[in-house]
Parts: sequence; C-alpha cells; structure tokens
Amino acid sequence: MAKNRAFREAIYREYMEFFERAERNRRWSVFTDIPWDQLAEENNDEEAALNAETFVGVESYLPDYVSQGINVVREMFGQAWFSANWGYEESKHALALREYLVRSGQRTSEQMFDYEEEILGKKWTLPFETARQMTFYGAVQELATFMMYKHQEKLARDRGDEVLATIYGYVGRDEAAHADFYRKVTQLEIVEDREGAIRDMALVFKNFRMPGTLLVPDYDARTEVMRKTGGVDRGVFFKEVWFPTLKKVGVTREEITRASAELRKSAA
Ligand SMILES: [Fe+2]
Ligand SMILES: [Fe+2]
Repeated sequence: MAKNRAFREAIYREYMEFFERAERNRRWSVFTDIPWDQLAEENNDEEAALNAETFVGVESYLPDYVSQGINVVREMFGQAWFSANWGYEESKHALALREYLVRSGQRTSEQMFDYEEEILGKKWTLPFETARQMTFYGAVQELATFMMYKHQEKLARDRGDEVLATIYGYVGRDEAAHADFYRKVTQLEIVEDREGAIRDMALVFKNFRMPGTLLVPDYDARTEVMRKTGGVDRGVFFKEVWFPTLKKVGVTREEITRASAELRKSAA
C-alpha cells in the first residue's frame, strides 16, 4: 500500500536524525579504533573464539540481508537510505571479528575462507514479507543481538581481552542504534494503522527466529556453547528484549495476546 506524504516525511526526519548521530558520534574504524597491539596469546580462549566465529557466520549473510532487505523498502526514501547505511555499518562487524580471529592466531586465514564458503553455500531469505513486518522484526532482532554482544563484551573484558571487548563494544553500539531506528519507524506505523501494525507484531512474535539459526553450520552446538557462557536464553529474551520493545513502542502485552488469538482464529 502506498504511504502518504506525511508518513514519508516523518520517516525521512527519523532517518536524518539517525544518520546525523551516526556520523557525528558513532563512526568507528577497524584500522584505528581497535587496540590491535594489545593482542596477547594468554588472552586466547577457545569458547570465546567459537562464539566470535558464530557471530562472523551470522553477520556473513550480509549480501542476502542487504539485497533482499533494501528491496522491501525501495520506495521509501528514509528507509531505503537507512538500509544502505545499515549495510555499511554491518559490513564492519564480520570484518572486525574475522580479523580478530586471524590476528590473534586462533584461526588461520585459510580456515576463515573455508568457513565463509560453507556459510554462503546457503542463502538467507526474508523471514517476513512486508516492510512493516520486517521493520518490527528488525526492532526485536537488533535488540536481541545487542544483548548478546553486550554480554560477550563483558566476558571478554573480565578475561582481560581488551581487543575483543573493544570490538564487541563498537559492534553492540551499532546494533542498539539499529534497534532504535526500527522501533521509531514501528511507532510511526502504529500511529498510522494501530490494528494492522499490532497484527503484524503478533505475527512476527509467533514466527520469530534469529537469523542464521537454520543456516550457520552446527548452529545448535554453537548456541549451546554460547548458552553455557550465559548467553541470551528465553527468559532474558522476554525480560530484556521483547517486553522493553513493546513498552517503548507503546503496545501492551494484552493487545499482542488479543491479536495472536485473532491470528490463530483466522488460520484455523
Ligand atoms: Fe551486526
Ligand atoms: Fe545491526
């Protein structure tokens, strides 16, 4: 459905605000902002390396995320330009972690290329069809990703691995900013069509899955390692991702429950 001019203008303003903050306060460089000279062999840890490698895997579907994501929003300037900028920011995530694994000697460059080939042997496809659904999916998924990186940052810092902690810090801050933009667009969608937007939110919740779950090789075993080191489980997901997102966009749990019941009824 074509959106009206006021909606387009509101999205444009959101994007300008997002982009200005990104340009002024959030830019970071893989080359000059990571303390690579502090890499030390005694900081290496196999579980941490495996977690970093898993994140590299998930972040490596970038070509699919970018190409498919931008097509859903190509008719909305603010969202399409966000997508392009998002792609730039995300492109540094896999790169920084990959460099970390090789420079710290925990993986060889050869191993990373093999892994990359295996990863890209499968293709990520859009989990939802419309821009509104993908936007809300983005709000939840980016916040969950932020929580995971925040946790990894703390673990790395506690182990004295300042290099990895710095990388997770920058990457996590990017993810939090992405979640914030998606939440703001979701709020605009809610103002425009509350019932429809909430129906989509219920649908996204019902079918929510982190990217990479079905694609990254040995994802289950990898999540096990992440969980063992205290990752984002169901409880954390609800408490720190799902409920806060609903609260920030101003939708109650009851509204979602009602919409979910409607969805079930119409599916029956
Ligand atoms: Fe990322
Ligand atoms: Fe992100």
